[in-house]
Amino acid sequence: MPSPAVSPERAPMRRMEPLAHHTTMRIGGPAEFFYEPQRPEDLSALLTRLEAEGVPARLLGGGANTLAPDGGVPGAVIHTGTLRRIFREGERLRAWPGVTLPQLVRTALDAGLGGMDRLVGVPGQVGGALAMNAGSAAWGIWDEVEEITVWEPGGAVRRLLPADVGPAYRDGRLRGRVVLEALFKLRPEDPAALKARQDDFLRRKNATQPVTLSSAGCAFKNPPGDSAGRLVDAAGLKGARRGGAEISAVHANFIVNRGGGGVPNATAADVRALVEMAETAVAEKFGVRLERELVIWPEPLRPLGP
Ligand code: EPU
Repeated sequence: MPSPAVSPERAPMRRMEPLAHHTTMRIGGPAEFFYEPQRPEDLSALLTRLEAEGVPARLLGGGANTLAPDGGVPGAVIHTGTLRRIFREGERLRAWPGVTLPQLVRTALDAGLGGMDRLVGVPGQVGGALAMNAGSAAWGIWDEVEEITVWEPGGAVRRLLPADVGPAYRDGRLRGRVVLEALFKLRPEDPAALKARQDDFLRRKNATQPVTLSSAGCAFKNPPGDSAGRLVDAAGLKGARRGGAEISAVHANFIVNRGGGGVPNATAADVRALVEMAETAVAEKFGVRLERELVIWPEPLRPLGP
């Protein structure tokens, strides 16, 4: 039988863990088996075992770019949140996949190392950020990677250079591989100048993005030479609502969960409806096919739950 509660790895498991507790959108039904590996080698051993047992497994980092299904997830969800160690090695930072981006930015700042500044104010964790090459418009976290250690389907653990992986805009091109550790090569900088630059990024972010509401960041990638937010806005959809979800009135590439204070919590179905509405409107009005940045996990055939 798959997935004993006490796994041979150090990876405590809970049954029917609500994913809404682990996603920045605060949306998502239960994960049938929710694992929290304690060390990178436990993550690797767990992935190998689940693969051998034929248990489908999904990775969840900070849940900052994932829309988890209302009906929950059959099989395993592996949460990297407890893999939070970070080591300084001169001008390098070695990070486990559950290191949060705020932790990474803070550690780099305290060490007087520049390179991670554009991640200030970005939620998420190192593993997920590498999987999707998180960043700002023209820069992604992969720009600072020296090498990563990954688990590969089949069970091999390998060290890879950026050139082996070939990351692209908002796409880490991991292709089923799972990050066990990352080594970032940074640059010494005057801490005061670093802090000033981070403050500036944060100020601009706070002025242009709905930072106080629950969201999963940008829903769409920017099409070449344009901005998805500008296009959804120009299609007239700013402020459009479905249930508890809304296309942000602050920045039209963000879908926010307005739930709370009498407003029902948004469902994954609400968010999917707004995503499709934006895609249709932008295609019809401007002939542009938007590509999703938000990772939408499919609904199960039958909802899990009591
Ligand atoms: N705009 C509008 N209406 C809107 C939103 C934007 O007209 O509702 C216009 C702005 O006025 C501006 C242009 O669109 O002229 C671009 O907007 P912005 O500067 O906000 O940048 P963006 O391209 O929308 C990108 C990243 C963000 C990142 C910011 C800042 C993508 C898809 N988005 O946004 O990344 O925070 O630059 O660096 O690459 C994310 O990926 O989750 C994300 C938030």
